[in-house]
Amino acid sequence: MDSIGIIGAMELEISLLLKNMSFDKEEKHAGFKFYLGKIFNTDVVVTCCNVGKVNAAACTQILIDKYNVKSIINTGIAGGIHSDVKVCDVVISSDVAHHDVRKEQMETLFPYRTSFKSDENLVKTAVCACEFIGVKDWNHHVGRIVSGECFVSDRGLKQKIVNEFSPHCVEMEGAAIGHVAHINNVPFVIIRSISDNADDSANETYNNYESVAAIQSANIVLNMIKLM
Ligand code: ADE
Repeated sequence: MDSIGIIGAMELEISLLLKNMSFDKEEKHAGFKFYLGKIFNTDVVVTCCNVGKVNAAACTQILIDKYNVKSIINTGIAGGIHSDVKVCDVVISSDVAHHDVRKEQMETLFPYRTSFKSDENLVKTAVCACEFIGVKDWNHHVGRIVSGECFVSDRGLKQKIVNEFSPHCVEMEGAAIGHVAHINNVPFVIIRSISDNADDSANETYNNYESVAAIQSANIVLNMIKLM
């Protein structure tokens, strides 16, 4: 139980991590690739789960069952929801929630909950990693991240999500990763850099900022590992 599991949904979101990794081996389970090795002398298992909550949940359970990871970090991009959150800012999850699951469906969880709390130490390390970067033209925030099975690019849906969850940002995997980590008692944190504002202009903004945001988030994870 020594490795840290790191999940990105897209190759772009893990490419900087793979560049900084010394590889021991690569394995495949359920179609997902798992890269085992070290980053700055820390044991890691890095994987790409593909987009969506089912993929993210399956991949998280494999990290736990096959690799016995001691904690899980999810890195990637998200649509900004909170008015303080600007494109290229970074959101560190305080907690995660499914924005497309009826609250009644969560009743099998004991104690009942509709959101999953991130590990406080991982949150602190992520905040330090952002501060470690020094002078920067973006801000970091700690707040709720919500996930659902759609790309949010519509003012109406954005407002509905604000009204129900008051999140900082929206994406498509974090709640599944947090949910699976929680039921397995594994600490987790989600790190997301903002690629768009989840509004009517989201598609265009996303195309311009996808790459820079994905690399920025991965860079924060690299800094987290340096601090561990
Ligand atoms: N990931 C990045 N931007 C997003 C958005 N607007 N909706 C859902 N997932 C996203």
